[in-house]
Amino acid sequence: MKKFLVTTPIYYPNGYPHIGHAYSSFIADFYARYKRLLGYAVKFSTWNDENSQNVLKKAAEESKEIMPYLDAMAQKWKEVRDHLQISYTDFIRTTQNNHKKLVQEMLQKSFDKWDIYQWTYEGHYCVGCEAFKTEKDLIEKDGQMVCPDHLTKPDLIMEKNRFFKLSGYETSLKELYARNPDFVVPEHRFNEVKSFVNGSLIDFSVSRETNKFGIPLPFDPSQVTYVWYDALFNYVTISRNEGFWNNETEIVHVLGKDISRFHAIFRPAMLMSADEKCPDREYITGYFTVDGHKMSKSLGNVVDPVQMVNDYDRDAVIFNLLYDVPIWADGDFSVERLANLYDSMLIWGRGNLVNRVTSLCEKYKINDGVFILKKREMFKWEDLDPEVSRAGDSRASENGLFKLFEEDFNADYIEEKYLNKAHIRDYLEDRYKLVQKANEFITKAEPRKKYKRDATKAWAISDLQFLLYIVKNLALISAPFLVNGFKKIQNIFGNEELSFVDSSVSSADNDNFKKAFDMREFKVELKPIIIYQKKEENDKNPDQSGW
Ligand code: MSP
Repeated sequence: MKKFLVTTPIYYPNGYPHIGHAYSSFIADFYARYKRLLGYAVKFSTWNDENSQNVLKKAAEESKEIMPYLDAMAQKWKEVRDHLQISYTDFIRTTQNNHKKLVQEMLQKSFDKWDIYQWTYEGHYCVGCEAFKTEKDLIEKDGQMVCPDHLTKPDLIMEKNRFFKLSGYETSLKELYARNPDFVVPEHRFNEVKSFVNGSLIDFSVSRETNKFGIPLPFDPSQVTYVWYDALFNYVTISRNEGFWNNETEIVHVLGKDISRFHAIFRPAMLMSADEKCPDREYITGYFTVDGHKMSKSLGNVVDPVQMVNDYDRDAVIFNLLYDVPIWADGDFSVERLANLYDSMLIWGRGNLVNRVTSLCEKYKINDGVFILKKREMFKWEDLDPEVSRAGDSRASENGLFKLFEEDFNADYIEEKYLNKAHIRDYLEDRYKLVQKANEFITKAEPRKKYKRDATKAWAISDLQFLLYIVKNLALISAPFLVNGFKKIQNIFGNEELSFVDSSVSSADNDNFKKAFDMREFKVELKPIIIYQKKEENDKNPDQSGW
């Protein structure tokens, strides 16, 4: 079985998850679910970055002991991820013992190679970013030099630190990038990384003298590891002993543009120094603002993803975030936009199609729900009610739709065209075109009118069989993002093949996805289904989304 490892960044638990954190988790979830459908053994890791000063600061502000604070936050973040139906397989907290052991092993290897040495650091440090800042990185505000992201004055630090010899890795990094042209996606971010590596690499500090909370250096326990050195190894901790950090596994990371240098420059150098494999791809996402402003507590515009999922639907929230912008662009979130997309594309687009088809099947009690999609018989135009004037167009529309589906579903093509290049927005858009075409077909074919005449009853049934096949397959190829919609559609198909395809749990065995897709004989429960409710209905019945 082919193996796939996908990860989110590990998040600082100095606050509760917001819509930006949900964004990177949804993207990773999309990949995990898709690869499971395609039969890969998938490991999907996420969770919290705990050995950090900004977290310590927060616990102190709340007058809490650090470990009970971290335990409570880990529990809270778990609840949120479960509520968002993030199908992770592994969680990591960097205070775990196995992580500590691994980081110490990596440090020792680099130390033994003379890649880690002692020096005195003197300069600015921004606790918000957990990063050193040069004068050039700062901006002026009210007569002071401050961090542009946090607008706070960085601490001035002078201490004995251990440094990692990043400057010695310029050639190896360039070779890695040349060998792997998709190492960083999108290309413009990769270009930024490459130009940074070109002659500007300076050694960075990997330890702290004054900090006491963190992983002690094995060769100097008076110092603890710098949070970024420690955190960047979390992906190895979670996967190496289980055979997922190796050349047989496709390894991809999803992360925000703010941390691309750490991941695409520092980390491969650290991995190479410790003789570990480098990942295959890093997908760098843009940032979301809210109603045009950076999210911040002081502006009071921090969006809680749980509330959005409760008010609308998990499918609506993921659809909004992934459909509105390509993953590498910055986006803007607004509740108004979420509500509009939910109404127009999910309720009226998809939901309406499913409801129209299932209602007609139920109304005519067709074959007790047993459907066999045969080659479409050639029905006679002269039998048609003259009112079904657009039936001629419907034949062309049907052929087009069929062709699109048959051609469209090809695993290699999908991986190459959409997944490897992170063209998720295009994927969603192209699937949505199928919804529109199917709605167009039903309008033109007019099965309701055909059913009224004995001469064309069989034709109407044939139209509905075809439409059910389309509904089934649309649900399947949308299952990695429209999870709730898929489950509801899956329920009406009382067929084993379809019920095996559950991307939230395990990988599809024996090509189940393909079998479910090709399935042309099925029994369905004859009842109209509503896959998405209007917000007012969700408000009345908050449990309807299945939580
Ligand atoms: N702990 C580090 C990451 C270590 S990974 C080895 C960290 N944590 S963070 O909580 O500050 O942010 C983590 C990630 O959350 C960002 O890289 C980004 O992917 C995501 N986002 C945080 N705010 C966001 C937005 N406003 N919009 C989109 N994504 C955002 O950095």
